[in-house]
Amino acid sequence: MASPLTFSWKSKLLSVLLCCLAVHAAIELNVDDDASIRNAAATAAYGLQSWYNGNQTGGVLGKFPYPPFYWWLSGAVWGGMVEYQQYTGDESYFNVTYEALVSQISPTYNYLPIAEKFDEGNDDVAFWAFGAMSAAEYGWPEPPEPYPTWVGVCDNVFNDFVARWYFANDTCGGGLKWQIFESSAGYTYKNSISNGGFFQLAARLYRHTGNETYYEWAKEVWNWSTTLGFIADTGNGYVVYDGAAEPLNCTEFDHTLWSYNLGVYLHGTAVLANVTNNESNNWTAQTIGLLDGVRYFISPFSNATNIMYEQACATRWNCNVDQFSFKAYLSRWMAQTSILVPSTAEKVRQILRTSAEAAVKTCVDGDDGVVCGARWYLGAWDGTLGVGQSLSVLEVIYNLLVR
Ligand SMILES: *[C@@H]1O[C@H](CO)[C@@H](O)[C@H](O)[C@H]1NC(C)=O
Ligand SMILES: *[C@@H]1O[C@H](CO)[C@@H](O)[C@H](O)[C@H]1NC(C)=O
Ligand SMILES: *[C@@H]1O[C@H](CO)[C@@H](O)[C@H](O)[C@H]1NC(C)=O
Ligand SMILES: *[C@@H]1O[C@H](CO)[C@@H](O)[C@H](O)[C@H]1NC(C)=O
Ligand SMILES: *[C@@H]1O[C@H](CO)[C@@H](O)[C@H](O)[C@H]1NC(C)=O
Ligand SMILES: *[C@@H]1O[C@H](CO)[C@@H](O)[C@H](O)[C@H]1NC(C)=O
Ligand SMILES: *[C@@H]1O[C@H](CO)[C@@H](O)[C@H](O)[C@H]1NC(C)=O
Ligand SMILES: *[C@@H]1O[C@H](CO)[C@@H](O)[C@H](O)[C@H]1NC(C)=O
Ligand SMILES: *[C@@H]1O[C@H](CO)[C@@H](O)[C@H](O)[C@H]1NC(C)=O
Ligand SMILES: *[C@@H]1O[C@H](CO)[C@@H](O)[C@H](O)[C@H]1NC(C)=O
Repeated sequence: MASPLTFSWKSKLLSVLLCCLAVHAAIELNVDDDASIRNAAATAAYGLQSWYNGNQTGGVLGKFPYPPFYWWLSGAVWGGMVEYQQYTGDESYFNVTYEALVSQISPTYNYLPIAEKFDEGNDDVAFWAFGAMSAAEYGWPEPPEPYPTWVGVCDNVFNDFVARWYFANDTCGGGLKWQIFESSAGYTYKNSISNGGFFQLAARLYRHTGNETYYEWAKEVWNWSTTLGFIADTGNGYVVYDGAAEPLNCTEFDHTLWSYNLGVYLHGTAVLANVTNNESNNWTAQTIGLLDGVRYFISPFSNATNIMYEQACATRWNCNVDQFSFKAYLSRWMAQTSILVPSTAEKVRQILRTSAEAAVKTCVDGDDGVVCGARWYLGAWDGTLGVGQSLSVLEVIYNLLVR
């Protein structure tokens, strides 16, 4: 995850430039009206899918064009599309989503296609597995022969994580590395998104199957993440730091706060709060602590209360192609939290509603469906566009229906 910028933006820009002379909203949204939410989500979904060329000549099945859109981001999109269908009831993209999620399972049945070896970290694989896990949770048809079930694929990914786990006698007292292959830059970095991906997947597998092995591992990952200090209680909400380098035995952290690092653990704790009756770790309290930490990703200015933003890069105008998508996952995982731990619902809904109202104002007509900006607090398009921006806007909209 990190991005070269050599992408031809199709013909999208031309009409975007024309758009701004017109004074009409590209997406209308009334957050109190489910039909309006579904319409807005459908418009956003169409705009997002207009970036997809994987089912066209020259494209790769399952993948949005690379560069600049890395393989993991495609997995993240298809996971979002599974959720989109579940909550809007719109089945228009079922075939394309199913086909995409199957296409990357790979001959080893663990979302590790050889073609992507150069950019396959533990986190990248986790995002594809989240899509498969949602397919399992919502009872999608299983993958065709000879593939295993969705749960089977996720179990394979889970067991890969187990095999890659380091124990307490190793660097940083354990944990997963960011990368899988020694040839990848970042092989000596341990980070929150990879470990949080393992944690969330284990928690969801446990909830879905009841198999205690998954729960034991969720607790192991949580314990490591909190003991080392990647997750910390500031007294004013939890923070989740990005990671730390192994050569220094994780003594010096990269303290950057990214919204998806918080979100990935949040959904996991909410799942465990929902199924374990707090019998250990008080998962409800952990969920509330993490949700309080969302304060660091909302309300950038006094005119933008409860509007989400990517605080590490948005106001400095240096977000990369990956980072533009992070608000999508924060939206998705907060929304799931609101139904898994109902006491959080009011707070989550307030943030989603305010953010969605702002987000749609950043969308403008492109040649082939709307395109959207990244800075929702501006109340207008910020001149950026891409899969991450479109995915984030789609997810903040349809997640209003999760309740
Ligand atoms: C190809 O993908 C696009 C975008 O999701 C979709 O609208 C279209 O129906 C797909 N075409 C086929 C033949 O599946
Ligand atoms: C999905 O694929 C099936 C089987 O190929 C086809 O019958 C159906 O019309 C497709 N649905 C959509 C929405 O494209
Ligand atoms: C850590 O302990 C395990 C057995 O529990 C052993 O297999 C492994 O080699 C040890 N690693 C180091 C770095 O000492
Ligand atoms: C490395 O860090 C772990 C966890 O913080 C600690 O238990 C271990 O003693 C450290 N090892 C060295 C050699 O400092
Ligand atoms: C539970 O999951 C673990 C990890 O995949 C597996 O080894 C074990 O066989 C499963 N247990 C049962 C009862 O299915
Ligand atoms: C948590 O991790 C620490 C440090 O590795 C270990 O000493 C402790 O036993 C673990 N606690 C649990 C409940 O696993
Ligand atoms: C967990 O504890 C919290 C706080 O005591 C409580 O509100 C919640 O209902 C408990 N969760 C379950 C699943 O029992
Ligand atoms: C869990 O934490 C909540 C919130 O801090 C607290 O109210 C509750 O008593 C705790 N429950 C247990 C079982 O420890
Ligand atoms: C667990 O989550 C479901 C939604 O998936 C919800 O209906 C249920 O009330 C939750 N249970 C508890 C104890 O919060
Ligand atoms: C809110 O304030 C910021 C900072 O002054 C500004 O950039 C932004 O355009 C304002 N947003 C709106 C909707 O006026």
